[in-house]
Amino acid sequence: MRTLDALYEAQKIAFSPFVFQTAATLLDLNVLEVIENHRQDRLTIDQLESHVDVSKYGLTVLLEMAIAANIVEKDQEGRLALTKVGYSILKDEMTRVNLNFTRDVCYLGLHNLTDAIKNGKPEGLKMIGDWSTVYEGLSQLPDHIKKSWFEFDHFYSDNAFSTALEIIFKANPKMIFDIGGNTGKWAIASAKYNDEVNVKIIDLPGQINVAQQNINKIESIANRVSYEALNILDPKSEIPEGADVYWMSQFLDCFSEQEIESILLKIKKNAKKDSDVYIMETFIDDQDFPAASFSLIATSLYFTAIANGNSKMYSKSVFKYIIEKAGFETVNEYRLNDSGYHTILHCKLKS
Ligand SMILES: C[S@@+](CC[C@H](N)C(=O)[O-])C[C@H]1O[C@@H](n2cnc3c(N)ncnc32)[C@H](O)[C@@H]1O
Repeated sequence: MRTLDALYEAQKIAFSPFVFQTAATLLDLNVLEVIENHRQDRLTIDQLESHVDVSKYGLTVLLEMAIAANIVEKDQEGRLALTKVGYSILKDEMTRVNLNFTRDVCYLGLHNLTDAIKNGKPEGLKMIGDWSTVYEGLSQLPDHIKKSWFEFDHFYSDNAFSTALEIIFKANPKMIFDIGGNTGKWAIASAKYNDEVNVKIIDLPGQINVAQQNINKIESIANRVSYEALNILDPKSEIPEGADVYWMSQFLDCFSEQEIESILLKIKKNAKKDSDVYIMETFIDDQDFPAASFSLIATSLYFTAIANGNSKMYSKSVFKYIIEKAGFETVNEYRLNDSGYHTILHCKLKS
């Protein structure tokens, strides 16, 4: 790379929050939408002013940045259009979910990343609430932050559920423990998928309350779902016995390597010999698209600065190593092509 090009790239990093906030503000103020709606009869900034509630000054500074950042393009006559990047920011669901998550959940807290790395604590979390991990505060987050957190969480699991259900129900389980079951989405999906299965949701008390409220509204399944409120990191807590399947979706990445091992050991302690353990994760080294691995690698820093200070998005090889170390073997592995990001590791106790 030429030095001049390197300097340009370095400035993009030095000013990256400006670009980020410009994109977010242009979305907020509906400017990207209006530009896209006028794709055929391209508007100039002067014409755009009459379509949006933004001053000429506001439009000028925002669009100059957006053009420099390749979000918007301007032709010789000064007429505007979205670039493919701008179009993705406006229309692509993954981008929308990632951007809102970054802005509402992470932006302020990331300022404390250096302290988080030094102290091994989520030092940015205090910007959104007074808890030791984000999970303790999930049900109490301010509404707009909660919405962005859950949309992010659900985006990276919901679209995998239909294929996952087919895999998990192959062996016709009668009792599934959904560890880290959150608001009950998986419990609802699996109890609806099979009308004989029972599901136990295991999670922190705040999430159990929300899951219970959601599930009690659905008469056809309410009596087949039970609950266990516990902090899995509490050395005294136990995962009860009785499961045919232990299901952990996007759960183990919330913990450090040692904690993951200790959770697997808790499962092992009371598990039947032939229980199935299914771990669904988005592994950074198991992605087809660079946009996906980039998003996951960035997400690790959310864990560092905001969530708990010691977890991350992992490589599949790391997980397999921990699984093995805890006394399980990976008997099967599924890439979920329809969701595009997920892998399910099917594990069993070593004989
Ligand atoms: C990223 S969410 C995954 C939710 C869901 N399984 C999914 O696939 O969307 C992680 C879940 O783990 C739960 N969790 C985090 N720390 C926990 C702990 N120490 N004990 C029990 N549950 C915990 C959180 O409350 C949250 O519901």
